[in-house]
Amino acid sequence: MVSLWLLPLLTLLPLILILKGKQWKRTNLPPGPLKLPIIGNLHQLSELPHRSLWKLSKKYGPIMHLQFGLKPTLVVSSPEMASEIMKSHDLECCSRPELMGPKRLSYNFIDIALAPYNDYWREMRKVCVLELFSLKRVQSFRPIREERVASMISSILKSSSSSTPINLSEIFLNITDDITCRVAFGKNYKGREFDNGRFGKAMQEATVVLGSFSGADFFPYVGWIMDKFTGLHGRRENCFHEFDHFYQSVIDEHLNNERDESEQEDITDVLLNIGRDHKGAGSLTHNHIKAILMNIFLGGVDSGAIVMEWAMAELVKNPKVMKKVQDEIRSIVGKKGKVDEADIDQLKFLKMVIKETLRLHPSLPLLLPREVISHFTINGYDIYPKTRVLVNAWAIGRDPKHWKNPEEFIPERFMDSVIDYKGTHFELLPFGSGRRGCPGINMGISVIELTLANLLHAFDWGLPDGIKKEDINMDEQSGLAVRKKAPVYLVPINYLIDP
Ligand code: HEM
Repeated sequence: MVSLWLLPLLTLLPLILILKGKQWKRTNLPPGPLKLPIIGNLHQLSELPHRSLWKLSKKYGPIMHLQFGLKPTLVVSSPEMASEIMKSHDLECCSRPELMGPKRLSYNFIDIALAPYNDYWREMRKVCVLELFSLKRVQSFRPIREERVASMISSILKSSSSSTPINLSEIFLNITDDITCRVAFGKNYKGREFDNGRFGKAMQEATVVLGSFSGADFFPYVGWIMDKFTGLHGRRENCFHEFDHFYQSVIDEHLNNERDESEQEDITDVLLNIGRDHKGAGSLTHNHIKAILMNIFLGGVDSGAIVMEWAMAELVKNPKVMKKVQDEIRSIVGKKGKVDEADIDQLKFLKMVIKETLRLHPSLPLLLPREVISHFTINGYDIYPKTRVLVNAWAIGRDPKHWKNPEEFIPERFMDSVIDYKGTHFELLPFGSGRRGCPGINMGISVIELTLANLLHAFDWGLPDGIKKEDINMDEQSGLAVRKKAPVYLVPINYLIDP
């Protein structure tokens, strides 16, 4: 009996091997380091993979072929190669790999960032770009940003009299968190404190479990067993169940009209309205809404806070730049007490400071991994379906062919330059580019600009006693999004005589 069903397999096996052999002979892969059995090149990754891959690219070039576990991976480290991937061949490689084996987790929604290139992703992306993160919608949330930034300034004013250092990293996380909550859910929610801190804990856990090494990411079919063994699988399950519970209660509350009539329309309202208006095939279900809310949190909160903490650290390390940006803000805004969003367009140097921060410290140094859908060639090299693609935006921002003195913080380099971060200039890719580029740029940047402008306008910033600017620790913390290892502690000195 057994031998009967084995027979076709035994006959087919040599054929499969011959065909595979032929395919391998055809391959003309990009260069890369030697691979070890089973683990491939995993042993060559340090805690900061963008740095290890940058070093390898100096030896093997701007397009490398590596193997992480069983996953063939293409690593791109120059603007020219990034343009090949994200512009010329965008359509052939705009899927996402099945990260952390979501199919094996039992929650029912896949967020847009992790969704493969299919109808589900296309529909969700359309809603995001057209309805949620359009410039008009982002502008409608201006009062929320201005109110929240004003309350941050007044609470710092209270502590500025005592001359004690304050933890700016924490303040940045609170502000992006609060604004995101108010924009997404309305005003009744208090960010991480919601549900006795249950939501806050889930958010914290999410950043850990998403940044952790996962067997399922590198060893298809069997890796999830490793994750079960290490407990990662269970932690991810719990974490996403917490989110599910939280988003469901937000949706229920919106549906039951338990909210105040005077409250501004928030993103959950917008999504529920779209769902009501377009019933039938292609409409937004509660799972779609949860997936979008999930992305707004995972995409929006940490990355914005990270940019601001690096910006403040670079500014105190470079006092001339700090003075120049403060002079600009103060000369334009005067002593009217605060910077409004209407002032921001005139703050040209502040915008250069933010660009320079994004060049040196992109929050997601390797962007989010893409996956190749169909075969194509670059520089004569074959790139095959299912290959994972990593674009090293961190290395690209340091490419000496495009950036003079790349390691130095010189915002003036953008003075007469057209280079922007919106995804059309491949030398600067903090938000990615192409079909999978970040749809939340306007939302993210508007919070960063307003918060930094007000902090730099209202206060001078001193270092804690006994610390010199040379002592500031600029080490990076490992993780998917790379924050500063040590939080930014600075002393606020009130500049406004009559705040
Ligand atoms: C300064 C803040 C932000 C930074 C630095 C940032 C950066 C990025 C990057 C690098 C990607 C991957 C792009 C690629 O693979 O080519 C991405 C994707 C994404 N971001 Fe952002 N982001 C920020 C803010 C936001 C905000 C505020 C939101 C939502 C409100 C958001 C939502 C998303 C989504 C949904 C994706 C997935 C896009 C897709 O795969 O189709 N991001 N972001």
